[in-house]
Amino acid sequence: MLSSVRYAVVYFCVKQEMKAVVMFPEGGMPKYVENFPEPAIQAEDQAAITIQAVALKHLDKSRANGTHYSTEGAPSKAKVIGMDGVGLLEDGTSVYALGITGMLAQKAIVDKNRMVVLPAGIDTAIAAALPNAIAGSAMALRYRANIKAGDTVLINGATGFTGRNAIQLARYYGAKKIIATGRNEASLQHLLTLGVDEVISLQQADERIISRLIEIQQISPIDIIIDYTWGHPAELILEALKGQGHFTHRTRFVTVGSMAGDTIRLSSEILRSVDLHLTGSGMGSWTKAEMKALLTEILPEMLQLAVEGKLKVEVQTMAIDEFEKAWEMDVENGRRLVVVV
Ligand SMILES: NC(=O)c1ccc[n+]([C@@H]2O[C@H](COP(=O)([O-])OP(=O)(O)OC[C@H]3O[C@@H](n4cnc5c(N)ncnc54)[C@H](OP(=O)(O)O)[C@@H]3O)[C@@H](O)[C@H]2O)c1
Repeated sequence: MLSSVRYAVVYFCVKQEMKAVVMFPEGGMPKYVENFPEPAIQAEDQAAITIQAVALKHLDKSRANGTHYSTEGAPSKAKVIGMDGVGLLEDGTSVYALGITGMLAQKAIVDKNRMVVLPAGIDTAIAAALPNAIAGSAMALRYRANIKAGDTVLINGATGFTGRNAIQLARYYGAKKIIATGRNEASLQHLLTLGVDEVISLQQADERIISRLIEIQQISPIDIIIDYTWGHPAELILEALKGQGHFTHRTRFVTVGSMAGDTIRLSSEILRSVDLHLTGSGMGSWTKAEMKALLTEILPEMLQLAVEGKLKVEVQTMAIDEFEKAWEMDVENGRRLVVVV
């Protein structure tokens, strides 16, 4: 008996290395390694998780190279990448969790207060892919735009994974009319099958984009703009909203992403000529109560919708040991790449 206990202890000590995707201080691309030290629980409110799948998002890329606002620049020591993912707790419970340690590895440490038990029947890759997109759509629609039934919603940059979620959630929350902008023509046409009423190509001349938006604004004034591009497309939309000195309709403009650039030129005249509420939605902008609602109400509700086939998303999977191809890979428009561990 004693010798088997000793054997178990020795075995446990040896098995402390894991497969992981690691960003090294030298920079460049994160590397797949098979001998990274397993992390250990440091406090009572932490749990160990065996990771099954991690979605590779813009957030993970910009955090890995230290350009995201939530980081303090490039990492000074080797660090596992990946902010969130799905896996199994020690008692076998399947959860989505935000990592305290990097999640793109076989093991990670998570905060017991920042995880969601997965509904039965959900596909692991979809469960890994959805939460960031739900955060990037539901939080903006509910807490920044205060969406109400009957609102007209414009989604700018709607062809991406998060934009496609935003379309479906805007409808779910009761939007009467949904307009979507994007560049990829085939993807724009696909959005019509997700419940969009009108698509506007961002590939047209600026004047045509602006004039169509002005026409829409006259027929059914836009209540909410959820923006994933910022940059030039956002400038065009704001130009189209510009008033002429009469009372105007209140529009809540919420920027969520900056695919077309992190800055815009914004004339004071636009802000003085319309009732515009310009704000942003991201992890630094939510209150603790909103973050709690995301984890305890919104994500469980939306993951259940996905199980029931009422929230449609497409993912592309890849094994962790193929990771180095994943970093620069062109994923099909509107899909999310999920790394299976
Ligand atoms: N704040 C949050 O909570 C939060 C959460 C999730 C995502 N986000 C952000 O939202 C943005 C979109 O994320 P995603 O998950 O949808 O990414 P994605 O699936 O990679 O899609 C990217 C989208 O951006 C569009 N795009 C790229 N470059 C563009 C440009 N120069 N001009 C116009 N459109 C351009 C693409 O349009 P085409 O394919 O039509 O060319 C596509 O629709 C990212 O900036 C991401 O970081 C924020």
